[in-house]
Amino acid sequence: MNFNYLTGNFGIEIQAKELADVDQGTGLTLQNLWHEHELLVIRDMDLDTQAFVNFCSLFGELQKNYFFFQGHSEEYPQVARIIKEIGEKKNTGGIWHHDQGYYSKPVKGIALYGIDIPNRGGDTLFTSSTLAYESLSTAMQQVVKSLNVIHTTELMLKKQPISKLMESSGESSSGIERALKLMPLESAVHPAVCRNPVTGKPFLYLNRTTTSHFEGMTLDESSGLLDYLFKHIEKPEFNCRVQWRPGTLVLWNNHQVLHYAVNDYNQRRELHRVHFSAERPIKYL
Ligand code: SIN
Repeated sequence: MNFNYLTGNFGIEIQAKELADVDQGTGLTLQNLWHEHELLVIRDMDLDTQAFVNFCSLFGELQKNYFFFQGHSEEYPQVARIIKEIGEKKNTGGIWHHDQGYYSKPVKGIALYGIDIPNRGGDTLFTSSTLAYESLSTAMQQVVKSLNVIHTTELMLKKQPISKLMESSGESSSGIERALKLMPLESAVHPAVCRNPVTGKPFLYLNRTTTSHFEGMTLDESSGLLDYLFKHIEKPEFNCRVQWRPGTLVLWNNHQVLHYAVNDYNQRRELHRVHFSAERPIKYL
């Protein structure tokens, strides 16, 4: 399958015509590309909701996402809509994060599909924590490998109070309350360095939105090293910036890749989103 590299290090772009007949062979090739490159950008797809669900199901079992309040239709409960209307100030996901680190089995894959895209702005940034781990010194790799991290929703909700969630989602407080009842406070312990089960590549599994501290240490003791690692992961050398067009489909490995939605536009923006394959990240030995 033909593709272009999007940066010197990370992310590839495929034209939809390369997928003309998606059969088992194509599905397998795409899965391998996804494991190897961590971020796939597929241009000029023409998918209705059913076709989006069918295509993404090639990569794993789709899950319902309780965090996104908009647009769970009865017919497609796995498809969330991320919408920012003209005049809304806040966006969703405008901070570096993984999704669901606070679960023992966070979803491994995320796909977003461009529906309504501003004329300019509204890009999404991605960063590879595999590249970030690779570039640490051997001594630092040894230190981090020996540690576990706590991921918690508490930290995330503190950083983004309910009032802000309400503004960005455009939901009523009762809608938010309903959603929060479905998504209670959660936390999980994960190895700070995990490995991809297929490629074996090690990666840092921590982010500034949900990782509060190292297991067995206080927040204070953890903060210096964690802050260094957050900034390290976010460095531009490990980033890939995706400019959206209607019909662009982006798939990434949510364990190895962090994302950040850039809030620099004031036009309507709508993306559809699915999650797949809830799996426990595996410790790198
Ligand atoms: C998110 O999934 O956190 C938002 C991504 C985006 O809107 O670009």
